[in-house]
Formats: sequence, C-alpha cells, structure tokens
Amino acid sequence: MIGTSIREVLRMSPEEQQITVRGWIRTKRESKNFSFLELNDGSVMKNLQIVYDASSDGYEALLPRLTTGASLIVTGRVMASQGKGQSVELKAEGLQVVGDSPVDTYPLQKKRHSFEFLREIAHLRPRTNTFGAIARVRNAMSYAIHRFFQEKGFLYIHTPIITSSDCEGAGEMFQVTTLPLDEVPVEQGVVDYTQDFFGKRTGLTVSGQLEAELYACALGNVYTFGPTFRAEHSNTTRHLAEFWMIEPEMAFCDIQGNVDLAEEFLKYIFRYTLESCPEDIEFFNRWIDKGVIETIQNVTESDFERITYTEAVERLEKSDQSFEFPVQWGVDLQSEHERYLTETVYKKPVIIIDYPKEIKAFYMKLGEDGKTVRAMDILVPRLGEIVGGSEREANHDTLVNRIREMDLNPDEYWWYLEIRRFGTVPHSGFGLGFERLIQFVTGMKNIRDVIPFPRSYREIEF
Ligand code: 4AD
Ligand code: MG
Repeated sequence: MIGTSIREVLRMSPEEQQITVRGWIRTKRESKNFSFLELNDGSVMKNLQIVYDASSDGYEALLPRLTTGASLIVTGRVMASQGKGQSVELKAEGLQVVGDSPVDTYPLQKKRHSFEFLREIAHLRPRTNTFGAIARVRNAMSYAIHRFFQEKGFLYIHTPIITSSDCEGAGEMFQVTTLPLDEVPVEQGVVDYTQDFFGKRTGLTVSGQLEAELYACALGNVYTFGPTFRAEHSNTTRHLAEFWMIEPEMAFCDIQGNVDLAEEFLKYIFRYTLESCPEDIEFFNRWIDKGVIETIQNVTESDFERITYTEAVERLEKSDQSFEFPVQWGVDLQSEHERYLTETVYKKPVIIIDYPKEIKAFYMKLGEDGKTVRAMDILVPRLGEIVGGSEREANHDTLVNRIREMDLNPDEYWWYLEIRRFGTVPHSGFGLGFERLIQFVTGMKNIRDVIPFPRSYREIEF
C-alpha cells in the first residue's frame, strides 16, 4: 500500500480524494464526539491532526489502544481545520492500529525529557522533535556537501577504514586485530604482528587524508566523506570516538586556495541548510539556542577573519581575560583561547594559519622561516576548531626530515613519500568534522546528540 507523507498532506488544500497516512501517535485528546490524534511520521516536524469520529464503527474498542507511541494506518479525507495551529486535518474514515504501545511502560511522555535521559533511550529518541529535526538536518547537510563538491567537479573517493598508517601521528588509533588476546604471540618480548590478519599492526583510520593526497596527485580535486575513529579519552562535548569527516584535497593548490575553498564551502552549506530545513532550524532557534539563525546568517554574509598564529598569540597576550592555560608563542591553542578569539575579539569565524611546526602534523608544508608550517584551522563561536587543514609538504627530503623530527619512521610512509619523487605538485586540503558542523548549525551543546548513535569513551550501548 502506498501512503502519503505528512509533509505532503500538510501542503495539500482540502480535497475530496481519499488518502492514507502512516505514523506514530504523539498525543491524544478526547472530546464528547471526537478524538483528536497528533500523528507524526518523521517526514516533517509537524504532526497531522487526525479527527476520529466517536460514531465510527468499533470506536469504543479502539480508543484505549490509541496511546502515545502506537503505530497507525489511517485512511481519510483532508479537510480545512477549524482548530488553531494547522490549516488542514485528516478526517479518519478507516483507522488501524499496527502496533500497540502500552501507556505504563512507554518511556517517552508528552513532557520535555533531558538530553541525558534521551541518550539512555537512544533507540527511541528519534521519535522526539529534537532528534527528528537533527536527522533531517543531518540528511540535508550530507546532500549539500556532495552537491557542493560535485558542482565543482571534485571526485568522491573512498579511502580505507582499516589502515596501517597513523595519519595524524598522534597515536590515537583503535587497534584492529584477529590475534587471540588471551594468548598474544610474542617474539623476544614484543607482539609478533606477522601472525596477525594483515601481517602487521593495523588500526581504524584517523583520517583519509594520506590516501586522498595520492588520488589528488593523479586526478586533481577529490574529497572523502566517511567515518573516522579516534581513541580519544577526552570526555568533552566536542569529541567522539567515531565521527564523520569531510576531507577535500586539491592538487596545484596552495594554502591560500585552501582557505578560500573552505570559506566558500562552509557558507554554501549554511545557506543550503537555512533554505532547505526552515522549520527544523526555526525549532532549534526557538528551543535550543535563541540566536542560532542570526549567527548562521551573519556567518554567510561576513568575511571570515584571517590571521596568523603569531597574531593570534599577540591578541591573546594583550587580553585582560584570565585563561586557565597561559598563552605564549609555541603553545597549542586551547578551546578557551579559540573561543575568545572568535566570540569576543572578532565575533565571527576566524581562520588561523602558520602554526609552529612542533604542534602540528608531520605532513604540513614547512614555511620559509623554518619555524612554522602552512597549517590552517577555522574557529567558530561556541565550538572553537571546526576545520583543520594545511598545504602539504611537497618536497621529498624536507618531508623525510619532518617525519624523523616527529619521531616517526619514514619507512612506514614509503608510498606517501614516493608521490614526492614522481611529478610532485603543491597540494592542499582540509578536514571538516561533520558533527561539529551540525552542532554549529543547530546550537546543540553536546556532540553526542547530533549523531544517531554516539561512540565515546565508555559509551556504546546502542
Ligand atoms: O584537525 P584534524 O585532526 O585534521 C585532520 O585529521 C586532517 N588529516 C584533515 C585534513 O587536512 N585532511 O581533524 C579535522 C576536524 C577537526 O577540525 C574537527 O572538526 C574534527 O575533524 N574532529 C573531531 N570531531 C569529533 N570528534 C573528534 N574526536 C574529532 N577530532 C577531530
Ligand atoms: Mg586539528
């Protein structure tokens, strides 16, 4: 049977034609002659009001089964609504309960539930307004991301999930192994990975960048959009152990081109989301973060501030704000510093380039000063870093030195290095954390609430 989505019904004008809708009851209200059901099918935030006439066949028997959470198929006619809050409603002619939902045990009640509680019932939270809206916004933004790159002729490439190289060199990889953990083979005191599935130590990828670079250095402009894993113990509202990252990589492109693309990209996504999900974004603006629409609009209209790390540190040193972590040239910027720059000093997104090489990854292009690398981070209000990227070191020997300086082993990166020996080109790219992007657009405070099933330290129930 083909049903009509509630999204479609709410756009209809009252008509004679019979239609069928399917969904779950949110609430029920009874009066003498009618019951009013609020039906939701996830196609849109709004519910469809179903008017169920007390004189219908079998009304008395069905009524107690029309409870919050029960699933229904309703056939009826779209009528102009007399009530407030909707222009049309559905006058039920046939009503079937598909699945009952016992009132005394259904965990979702009409009242507002805390996000902490909803995380404990993550199997049911998509039935709430907030998580329905998140799912629709996430879907729209995924589409916008592909559309942006496809319109520009970038190729979507699929980089591996299981890998033997640590892209960020930060040692935050989850290990992948088929070795028996209660009897690990050991050779001269160290684990013998030649007996493991791949014959060497492997893990889940922390970034598709290294592989994306290989494809960019053959095909020009490429991007990835996939799951990324980091065994971070940091229990913050901005970190997940499994998140999604978008990583464009461009050949014949320097840091300037990289910065330009990132700004254009972010603005495109924000504009698209405002236009394609107005109801959901209004919901966030009303219930989650009062200023979120204004913030996004401002961002799409303003030029991002572009400064160097050195300038950023000078600004921070001059400030009379007391930071938990003191700042001086050479230290990594903490979230409190990032937020101060973007929220208090510039009041808009800030792009910082040219970081000290010691605090950034080995693959970033060394600057002429020999002290900085051509890195770029984009900071936004409320979150701090949302994008991290760089121009890549395209010189073979400089890169070998950098790998050694960072205490990594050049042999493990032989294929990555070889690209610098055959037709090397300047190239650049960045990574955007998809969940942080959604946090920014929705105003949601905790990153665990913008991904359907969060994975973070000690959290994996669903
Ligand atoms: O700055 P990161 O570590 O950069 C890279 O991984 C580069 N290889 C990207 C590239 O140049 N192709 O991560 C990029 C972004 C961060 O700015 C942040 O938005 C997000 O990924 N991110 C996380 N999001 C959620 N949870 C985590 N644990 C994250 N770690 C990074
Ligand atoms: Mg970073």
